[in-house]
Amino acid sequence: MDESFQAATEAEMIAAGRSFAARLRAGDVVALDGDLGAGKTHFCKGLVAGLGSNEEVTSPTFALVQEYQGGAWPVFHFDWYRLEDAAELQGIGWDDYLDEEGVILVEWSEKFPAMLPPATYVLAFRILPDGVRHITLSRR
Ligand SMILES: Nc1ncnc2c1ncn2[C@@H]1O[C@H](COP(=O)(O)OP(=O)(O)O)[C@@H](O)[C@H]1O
Ligand SMILES: [Mg+2]
Repeated sequence: MDESFQAATEAEMIAAGRSFAARLRAGDVVALDGDLGAGKTHFCKGLVAGLGSNEEVTSPTFALVQEYQGGAWPVFHFDWYRLEDAAELQGIGWDDYLDEEGVILVEWSEKFPAMLPPATYVLAFRILPDGVRHITLSRR
């Protein structure tokens, strides 16, 4: 069954990412979808810290992928917002990332949902009218 939770502040969103990290294993893929500014990147900050990395997490919108080391596993952080097509993703070696002993985070995965492997964790972010962030978790 789907789970959902809320984060009323940026700090609560980071804390939610930290606690989510505890359920991850090498090879897991986490998709983060939903409104711009809903807190996806802040959730990733908490998640990366929760895996034990001290590296700074910033939005990979321009870089397409960022890598964070120093935690339980390397984290590969994608943002597909500016990606033109799935072929571009294959071109940067998406399949090789899937074979890595690491954790993959994908913001804006809804642009190319067919590229996600089975069992991807899907987090849907929504901004409620009062500004609180609502997140629903499902597994593909
Ligand atoms: N409850 C909240 N959770 C997360 N971010 C929040 C919250 N309330 C306000 N914010 C602000 O919203 C923005 C979220 O940015 P970001 O994490 O980059 O979102 P996204 O990656 O979804 O576009 C930040 O400026 C943050 O300070
Ligand atoms: Mg973002």
